[in-house]
Amino acid sequence: DEIASTPLHDLSWWQQSPAERDAAFASLRRDRPRMFVPLGPAKEGSRPKGFWALTTYEDILEVSRRPEDFSSGIGGTQIFDQPAELQEYRGSIIDMDNPEHARLRKIVSRGFTARNLSGLRDEIEETVSEILDEMSETGECDFVEEFASLLPLRIIDNLLGIPREHEKFILEATNTILGASDSEYIEDQSARGIGKAVTAASEALIALLNDLAEDRIANPQDDLITKLVAADDENLTPQEMAKFFILLVGAGNETTRNVISHGLHVLTQHPEQRDLWLSDYEEYATTAIEEMLRWATPVIHFRRTVTRDGVMLGDLELFEGDKVVMWYTSANRDETIFDDPEKFDITRDPNPHVAFGGAGAHFCLGAHLARLELDVAFRMLFERYPDIRAVGEPVRLRSNFLNGIKHLRAEYTVAP
Ligand code: HEM
Repeated sequence: DEIASTPLHDLSWWQQSPAERDAAFASLRRDRPRMFVPLGPAKEGSRPKGFWALTTYEDILEVSRRPEDFSSGIGGTQIFDQPAELQEYRGSIIDMDNPEHARLRKIVSRGFTARNLSGLRDEIEETVSEILDEMSETGECDFVEEFASLLPLRIIDNLLGIPREHEKFILEATNTILGASDSEYIEDQSARGIGKAVTAASEALIALLNDLAEDRIANPQDDLITKLVAADDENLTPQEMAKFFILLVGAGNETTRNVISHGLHVLTQHPEQRDLWLSDYEEYATTAIEEMLRWATPVIHFRRTVTRDGVMLGDLELFEGDKVVMWYTSANRDETIFDDPEKFDITRDPNPHVAFGGAGAHFCLGAHLARLELDVAFRMLFERYPDIRAVGEPVRLRSNFLNGIKHLRAEYTVAP
């Protein structure tokens, strides 16, 4: 039947409109909330290849809370196991289980505690102000290129201590790695072409990191690279550092920007919501930002792998090596949790969305930083250009992993 063959791993399936995808997920939640998606024919006597597509909020939250049954380390957190040639570059905390996960997460969290980030608001304000100054004075621009992508990029660069001269390179490298399935970023879309380009981008990132790390050992600075390479007994090995660096520049860059872009687009589509927010920015900021996070759900899914035979998820019995995929996109529209889930409502409260992952060990390390960036971004954007609006349809990233927007035209009145 049609539902049973919903090919969630298939990139072309993700080319349909968001409304069509939402409708398909609603059917899955209703009729096949734990659907098995086969990947190739089953061999006799062995478990069929494929993954269980989890689409309800409840299942996704539960899986995220049981890392001992649902591993991030076995084969990684993407639908397909990590290719051997990329193992050197991938596999930081996001693809780890305890005890390694807890040990490393504790070390890398040093730079991410609320206290450590408190001085950051001023820095983000300065950065937004600078970006607004640089924005086109013609009153129109590619909002992704001139605003949305620049803020997270400059903030993660500052945090790590990457000099401004490398900004363009960092953006291109993370676009290549996380936008690998889009021909705008990698022209040769054969498996070999993608592998080559992603390897090259990862190696170039590591080369830059090695230069910076060497420098920081000799000349410590007030930045995360210095903190992580600092000579004490909780040091990261160079290999751990390299993987974490790639994870961090990617996660820093390729997520928050999409909430900014989807945010401007959806606020343009719903002028009454936008007017309400602008009538009292402070009053609605917290709930509006959570609603934009729910709406955009920049990370579409992550995968887990079952660690032993006999793991139960509700009444579904699972076996060692079975893959389960948590479709956050679907959980964030689950009608049992969110009233009128297809409605964009900046006053929605409570709003327990899973845009940052469910709960538990792997909950997004950058959530606080992302929320801070979103708050400052919209506050200052609307102060400078109160009438800014998206024009036309966004150009979406070809991906089943990131709900990305590559380009979005915007118009605004520039004061004479
Ligand atoms: C983990 C989403 C921003 C760093 C995650 C996970 C999600 C997510 C869904 C869970 C992974 C899992 O369960 O396997 C997002 C979204 C963001 C965002 C939607 C923006 C709106 C950031 C930023 C940073 C960051 C700005 C860093 C500067 C990380 C790291 C992890 C993570 C390091 C791995 C945590 C672990 O495995 O222990 N993120 N993220 N994220 N995120 Fe984010």
